[in-house]
Amino acid sequence: MHNIKVITTTTEMQEYSDRMRNLGKTVAFVPTMGFLHEGHLSLIKEGRKLGDNLVVSIFVNPSQFSPGEDFESYPRDFDKDFELLQKESVDVIFYPDKNDLYRDGFQTYVELKNLPKHLCGISRPIFFRGVATIVIKLFNIVRPHIAIFGSKDYQQLAVIRRMVRDLNFDIKIVGFPTVREPDGLAMSSRNTYLTPEQRINALSLYKSLKQSKKLVESGSKDAKKIIDAAYTLIKSYPETVIDYIAICDPETLDDMETVDRPALMALAVNVGKTRLIDNMIL
Ligand code: PAF
Repeated sequence: MHNIKVITTTTEMQEYSDRMRNLGKTVAFVPTMGFLHEGHLSLIKEGRKLGDNLVVSIFVNPSQFSPGEDFESYPRDFDKDFELLQKESVDVIFYPDKNDLYRDGFQTYVELKNLPKHLCGISRPIFFRGVATIVIKLFNIVRPHIAIFGSKDYQQLAVIRRMVRDLNFDIKIVGFPTVREPDGLAMSSRNTYLTPEQRINALSLYKSLKQSKKLVESGSKDAKKIIDAAYTLIKSYPETVIDYIAICDPETLDDMETVDRPALMALAVNVGKTRLIDNMIL
């Protein structure tokens, strides 16, 4: 059985990474909030290929949840995660305590100027500040050469790439394609909240993306018309409340009116009480 190390303190994590770096080893890193699914495992498998040492963090980060969001009820199952990570031959699980990461008097946050003004940042105003802050902290603690993120959270990946460039972090950011269930639903820890009926309705996100891609392939260029068709499709499924559907520039996330070059279509939909996101390049 692979011997996996669980590190719970920031000091021990930094010391471990420094030791590995001094030995000339490449440290690959996959940050997660746990409750791992196939999507995470694909990032972890990629990390296994890219680094001599693979660190996976499990930390449900309070600063990226607004009051009233699901921080308390976010699914957690460390024992199951541990088992899965052991099978993937991960070297280290970094499993810190909230009070170690956010010590008394904590008051320093990382904020991006423009990227969070789009898409999820509109209805989740502190989300990207929380993500940017925890990811920078984890980078300083885990000190990786390479970090791997999923593309389902496209805006998060864009924020992290921008921040790494802007703040001169010497870390290679790898974006990995979205992993889907056989019927197309993007994998997410939050899918476990869905009832069997909601699970069917949740498929409307993927269906609307596929419909939009087809429209573009058959010559449609008018973003508003494509978005309207996606609204109609999703609204025909019960229990769906659309937060946003956008067609935008894949780098700046600024809205596009005409799809005359590769465009990102991104959407967030509440299915019952569960907020789901998905995206596709058109
Ligand atoms: O994508 C996630 O799971 C989280 O946002 C991350 C990157 C681990 C930061 O808490």
